[in-house]
Amino acid sequence: MATRYSALLALFCGSAMAVSLPNLLCPPVNTSPAHYNDSFLPNPFVFNDGLPVLLKTQWTCRANEISQTIQKDELGILPPKPQSLAVQFVNGNTLNITVTNNGKSINFAPSITYPANGTAPFPAFIAYDGGSIPYPDNVAVIYFDNDEIAQQNDQSSRGVGKFFDLFGTDASAGAMTAWAWAVSRIIDALEKTPQAKINVNKLGVTGCSRNGKGALVAGAFDSRIALTIPQESGSGGAACWRISDWQLATGTNVQTAHEIVQENVWFSTAFDPFVNDTSTLPVDHHLLAGLVAPRGLFVIENTAYDWLGTQSTNGCMRTGRKVFEALGVADNMGFSQIGNHLHCDFPASQQGNLTNFIDKFLFNKNTDTNIVVSDGNYTFNEKQWINWPTPNLI
Ligand SMILES: *[C@@H]1O[C@H](CO)[C@@H](O)[C@H](O)[C@H]1NC(C)=O
Ligand SMILES: *[C@@H]1O[C@H](CO)[C@@H](O)[C@H](O)[C@H]1NC(C)=O
Ligand SMILES: *[C@@H]1O[C@H](CO)[C@@H](O)[C@H](O)[C@H]1NC(C)=O
Ligand SMILES: *[C@@H]1O[C@H](CO)[C@@H](O)[C@H](O)[C@H]1NC(C)=O
Ligand SMILES: *[C@@H]1O[C@H](CO)[C@@H](O)[C@H](O)[C@H]1NC(C)=O
Ligand SMILES: *[C@@H]1O[C@H](CO)[C@@H](O)[C@H](O)[C@H]1NC(C)=O
Repeated sequence: MATRYSALLALFCGSAMAVSLPNLLCPPVNTSPAHYNDSFLPNPFVFNDGLPVLLKTQWTCRANEISQTIQKDELGILPPKPQSLAVQFVNGNTLNITVTNNGKSINFAPSITYPANGTAPFPAFIAYDGGSIPYPDNVAVIYFDNDEIAQQNDQSSRGVGKFFDLFGTDASAGAMTAWAWAVSRIIDALEKTPQAKINVNKLGVTGCSRNGKGALVAGAFDSRIALTIPQESGSGGAACWRISDWQLATGTNVQTAHEIVQENVWFSTAFDPFVNDTSTLPVDHHLLAGLVAPRGLFVIENTAYDWLGTQSTNGCMRTGRKVFEALGVADNMGFSQIGNHLHCDFPASQQGNLTNFIDKFLFNKNTDTNIVVSDGNYTFNEKQWINWPTPNLI
């Protein structure tokens, strides 16, 4: 760090030093901050080696560092674009996608439900297992069978699914990373298939519960997604591991990192060493939400189920929203948490907020998306969780 500051000084003083400006603004990615141990939510606005993020353009580099860190320590490694992808548009509504990499191939075929109304090319939601939000009558819905990409029954699902047929059963990716990789392949396929009549600049991604966790990860990893709507994703999605642990310690029965890795294969096995003391994890899920910035993110939660980490999602997403705030687009992220309904049912009281997000991000309308709503009466004690200021990035 000292080297970079002296380099900055040198730039201003006009003396020659062998450090380039890009390196100064975007330090080399460091995914292993030494001896991380912090019960506060990690600072989004400092690179892992200590250099502050001051400029909007630096956020791209910091986001890349956060993405690589969360892959390494929690979600598993997201493979790059495959060597080849072929797509046939069949039956007037199905993308038959064949992906080939290192001599192996897989095939999957998401189908598109076209809207009754609206105009082509249509905005579309890529919907994990169909999703559970009400879709407007002018948006297409692409059915994503995520379980065939990576199974999620229980521990025995580790390494099972088409993703693992392609990349090997010992790939580090947990199921959510595998699904996010496949969502990106659906977008690749849409880009190559204009006859499918989908507007690839107006794509949303959504899912509920475990699939809501997955939808958030897809939105975090692919910047071609305009609007991300995780519904009731709870712990492992919109909740922060640290806040959920504190909720459990103070008497609320919430799902924690310790529990979740024993329940299913949503995470990489690389997460295991952190789950009994999440203060040693250099990331948390406010940063996962931050990876979606500056694109649209509408987080839907439900106060009726303690297990979802209702207080945790509330505090975590308020904290994640600070990344959008720093970028000058706080309104691009909304949070709405309403109870008194079953898991994955969508209450009418959230409809207006949802419509505003869809209209803004899939139809370019100038709607009000300044939304932080909860019927949970929670006090988020910022002093307990946040020990960093939110800058105005320039
Ligand atoms: C983290 O720090 C706390 C107090 O600062 C200490 O009690 C704890 O043992 C440390 N944990 C690890 C894993 O280093
Ligand atoms: C997709 O293509 C594969 C390979 O060509 C073929 O076996 C399969 O039947 C096709 N599926 C659909 C739904 O067209
Ligand atoms: C289609 O959308 C337009 C504009 O929102 C609306 O006026 C019309 O009633 C809709 N038509 C149908 C059949 O839903
Ligand atoms: C976490 O705790 C469980 C027991 O509750 C234990 O089986 C596991 O090995 C621990 N993990 C680590 C990394 O210490
Ligand atoms: C969001 O929905 C709530 C009801 O849940 C409503 O009170 C609020 O006005 C809505 N906000 C916007 C910006 O539409
Ligand atoms: C929040 O407080 C209001 C007013 O006291 C109450 O009606 C509501 O049930 C509370 N919400 C929850 C989730 O406890």
